[in-house]
Amino acid sequence: MSDIFTGTVAVIGLGYIGLPTAAALATRGVQVVGVDINPDTVKTIARGEAPFVEPDLAVAVSGAVAMGHLTASTEPPEADAFIIAVPTPSDADHTADLTYVRNAVEQIAPRLRGGEIVILESTSPPGTCLAVSEWLGELRPDLRMPHAGEGTADVYVAHCPERVLPGRIMIEIVTNDRVIGGITPRCAEKAAAIYRVFAQGRLVLSDAASAEMAKLVENSYRDVNIAFANELSLICEKLKLDVWEIIELANHHPRVNILKPGPGVGGHCIAVDPWFIVSAAPDLARLIRTAREVNDRKPDHVAEQVIDKASRFHSPTIACLGLAFKANVEDLRESPAVTIVGEIARALPDTDILVAEPFVDSLPPALDGLTNLRLARTLDAVDAADIVVLLVEHDQFLALNRSVLAGKVVYDTRGVWR
Ligand SMILES: NC(=O)c1ccc[n+]([C@@H]2O[C@H](COP(=O)([O-])OP(=O)(O)OC[C@H]3O[C@@H](n4cnc5c(N)ncnc54)[C@H](O)[C@@H]3O)[C@@H](O)[C@H]2O)c1
Repeated sequence: MSDIFTGTVAVIGLGYIGLPTAAALATRGVQVVGVDINPDTVKTIARGEAPFVEPDLAVAVSGAVAMGHLTASTEPPEADAFIIAVPTPSDADHTADLTYVRNAVEQIAPRLRGGEIVILESTSPPGTCLAVSEWLGELRPDLRMPHAGEGTADVYVAHCPERVLPGRIMIEIVTNDRVIGGITPRCAEKAAAIYRVFAQGRLVLSDAASAEMAKLVENSYRDVNIAFANELSLICEKLKLDVWEIIELANHHPRVNILKPGPGVGGHCIAVDPWFIVSAAPDLARLIRTAREVNDRKPDHVAEQVIDKASRFHSPTIACLGLAFKANVEDLRESPAVTIVGEIARALPDTDILVAEPFVDSLPPALDGLTNLRLARTLDAVDAADIVVLLVEHDQFLALNRSVLAGKVVYDTRGVWR
């Protein structure tokens, strides 16, 4: 019979991935200490509250804290398992910045007594989990790490990437299949015992580097397919064809399923992870690189189109609907909408730009200093505007009565108002 973990867990990094994971374990009775370097995050969670909006997360955190199964701290405690869920951003040259992972490893190392499993959940280039094992070995030469190969390891190390969808994290964390890659098969088995506590999807065991690469491949697959749709949107615009109509027609083919174009690709994953593959094999990853470039160029194109439309007015007011990187979330990271709004505001300093974003109550730092921009309620923004630019498919925007758009120039990057 498969093992189910019964010890204590420390989750390092209480963001969009770490906190749901901590809550999923703690609500099923596992004793969890959540660790974050941000003291405000720790205080908020210790009060039983979630520091960001994600459906069903707040209730899970408050329940787990009230039951005494989830506590929060700025320092890792001793524990039987450590789950690292810290950021892995990309540097200016698109290589992965592993500083946060390295720092987390340095915090964990002094707490090891032997017998623990250390799981890296952060999205990482192939070889990172091996580096974690090697770093632990350097920091704790008294303990045998699994990469050393010979004999039974004192500590187990595995990679278990996340593939949850923001907005559905609490559901998908339970229902998705998971890939679990160990430095050794025993490491993968040890890690699987933890996910068996809450996972209903299949746990697929592999080696660490394959699990790392599989995660990057998943996001590159999405990026390449979105790039295809975005490239079609540019071609159709030039040929004066309706890209939405063309895609709908083409998708009647039983083996064709073209995705929807949009204003670009954002978020922490799809816009970042493919670069880790490009960095690992720059001469070979030609399609993956081009897809990134096509998707990264799309926000500039949208901004240019809006600026062109504005040039036909004397001092127009522009309403930009949405800043988030996708529908119905508050996450603005890598958001093409933020880039587009910034570019329009900089190009048209004398134009009033009203931004409607129901999920935030202040503009992000990337838009600081742009005095012609302000947040407004959706209806007020649309009402005052000569030009309405739809950037995000938030439900609130989709619920707008079309009559409010009458007489306005509409630039719909999502194809919902056709
Ligand atoms: N957000 C997603 O939808 C998603 C999906 C799949 C994979 N991932 C990956 O998961 C990882 C985490 O992403 P996220 O979205 O949860 O990031 P996040 O920025 O929301 O959270 C990371 C947290 O880690 C904390 N932190 C940083 N260094 C620390 C340290 N040394 N000790 C303790 N805490 C530390 C930060 O303060 C922050 O609260 C990344 O590698 C990301 O690529 C994210």
